[in-house]
Amino acid sequence: MSILKLVAPDAACVSNTPAVIEPMLASDVPIVAAIERACFTSAWEPSAYYNELGNPAAVYHVARCCGSVVGFAGMWIAIDEAHFTLVGVLRGHRGRGIGTRLVVGLLDEAVERGVVRATLEVREHNTVARRLYERLGFVEAGYRHGYYTDTNETAVIMWAEDIDGVPSRTLRRDAIRALDQRGSA
Ligand SMILES: CC(C)(COP(=O)(O)OP(=O)(O)OC[C@H]1O[C@@H](n2cnc3c(N)ncnc32)[C@H](O)[C@@H]1OP(=O)(O)O)[C@@H](O)C(=O)NCCC(=O)NCCS
Repeated sequence: MSILKLVAPDAACVSNTPAVIEPMLASDVPIVAAIERACFTSAWEPSAYYNELGNPAAVYHVARCCGSVVGFAGMWIAIDEAHFTLVGVLRGHRGRGIGTRLVVGLLDEAVERGVVRATLEVREHNTVARRLYERLGFVEAGYRHGYYTDTNETAVIMWAEDIDGVPSRTLRRDAIRALDQRGSA
């Protein structure tokens, strides 16, 4: 079976309760790889995710909703820095706060592991993702022109500093509170 057939990218969310964010399990790998293929122009093979599960520096979380995994996010940790690798949510589940909950979950876990700052690259034209990261304390720190070879698009490099500090924790707490009050997934 084609890996993409594991997901229905446009199937609308029918849940009235928030998505549950949990660590990725080996049994989640095929669907996570399928979600990545549905969300990005290039994607890792499932074997790369199995390798990540055995990598103590890698952290992957999934969002479970409507009886399935509908999103995922990952980071690598090097001493006191986190580098976000991927965040993806199936189209039918976007705009309900799942991306926000996934990024907050990774930042919280990074803090628990002693991380003080986090970075990521995002496509210059990906305004939804950039706004999401900015709301959670990431700020633009530079550009890598032509970084994305498929479109020659520029990468915006973002950093979130002092993620254990009160201002950063407050941003995350307020973002989750706002989602909970909205009663979104
Ligand atoms: C970027 C991405 C992960 C965001 O996921 P998401 O689940 O839609 O994210 P959220 O729902 O938390 O936030 C997205 C928007 O929905 C809004 N939103 C969240 N919950 C909402 C709700 N209950 N009602 C209305 N709007 C809501 C947010 O305010 C935000 O709006 P904005 O873009 O106007 O600021 C998703 O669009 C995606 O997978 N894109 C393709 C892959 C990608 O680009 N990944 C990032 C690479 S760096």
